[in-house]
Amino acid sequence: MIKLVNPQIGEEEREAVNAVLDSKYLAEGPVAREFEKEFAEYLGTKHVIVTSNGTTALHVALEATGVKPGDEVITTAFTFIASSNSILFNGAIPIFADIDPETYNIDPEKVEEKITKKTKAIMPVHIFGNPCDMKALKDISEDHNLLLIEDACQAHGAKYDGKYIGTFGDANCFSFYASKNLVFGEGGAIATDNDELKELIDSIRNHGRPPKGGYHHNIIGYNYRTNNISAAIGLAQLKKLPQMLETRKRNASILIKELDGLEGFSLQKTPEKGEHCWYIAVGRTDKDDLPVSKIIEELKTNDIPSRQIYAIPSYEQPAYTNINNYYHWSKFITFPDYSKVKLPITERIGKTHFEIPINPLVTEEDMYKITAVLKKIFA
Ligand SMILES: Cc1ncc(COP(=O)(O)O)c(C=O)c1O
Repeated sequence: MIKLVNPQIGEEEREAVNAVLDSKYLAEGPVAREFEKEFAEYLGTKHVIVTSNGTTALHVALEATGVKPGDEVITTAFTFIASSNSILFNGAIPIFADIDPETYNIDPEKVEEKITKKTKAIMPVHIFGNPCDMKALKDISEDHNLLLIEDACQAHGAKYDGKYIGTFGDANCFSFYASKNLVFGEGGAIATDNDELKELIDSIRNHGRPPKGGYHHNIIGYNYRTNNISAAIGLAQLKKLPQMLETRKRNASILIKELDGLEGFSLQKTPEKGEHCWYIAVGRTDKDDLPVSKIIEELKTNDIPSRQIYAIPSYEQPAYTNINNYYHWSKFITFPDYSKVKLPITERIGKTHFEIPINPLVTEEDMYKITAVLKKIFA
């Protein structure tokens, strides 16, 4: 059976979890430290700090880099709600810029248009594992003295200009949620090259403790730690990551080879110098008489699961359109009237994209079945 989400869990993960159970060291400890070391080596970054999930990683990364209540952070609305929610947790204001119509990532020109005196940071999201135009975004952040915080929660293994995504910003966040390219079950991490920032992040995510831990609390922090069982799964997954990424790439190349040029159909385009890590593959319909609902139905009839993901832009969610009426930070901060935000490309792609199974347990045969069915649907 073809599945959209199907983590590649085997003996390696089972053995790693059993070893932790046998050790009885269940809390975050040596296994988590080992994961941090190995993931930092993989990325080619100085530090990785694990967290309880990608949302808490973003929350801490923004706080530790100095994003304060009332600051504006420019990001995308074509993403999972956690991206902009993490800005709100800090009392900061998400400002949404439109996306590129082919890469579906934040458009650097639109980012520049949104910069004001209150802008503190840019938070690009590498959507579906497709790298953003990091050269343009880094130039903008440097020209305007802005922080750059990558939401790399979907982008383990993606590259830009030969460098891993998650190594371009001041602090960069990953999720190891059960569907991701590398899974803990629930887990997250922040990558940074900055020694001081590493210490601060480590402390904020551990109740404001100093590096040695104990019962001294220098600052207010949270419990955003992970645990050795989850980290052990992640460590086993990290060893298989290159192979899992290769299989995703093989599956994507079948989609590209078979469906390129199909009338009314498009795949997400990777930017120049970018290397997609194919967390999610999406098709797009440009045919007015072939809505996404019909495509999903046809795929399901053929036992191929599919779904629309970000059909509702973050600013259209009731949580945002109503924010000034209920959110605790609205006592101190006036948020924009998000019901008035209009981003035409975000809205168009939201309505016209649909997911295509591509995970490493989807076989070549499955992929040819999927492409054959899509050819029929678009004929
Ligand atoms: C783009 C993006 N940002 C943030 C998150 C939050 O990560 P988590 O679910 O681990 O909290 C996710 C997870 O799905 C995501 O896809």
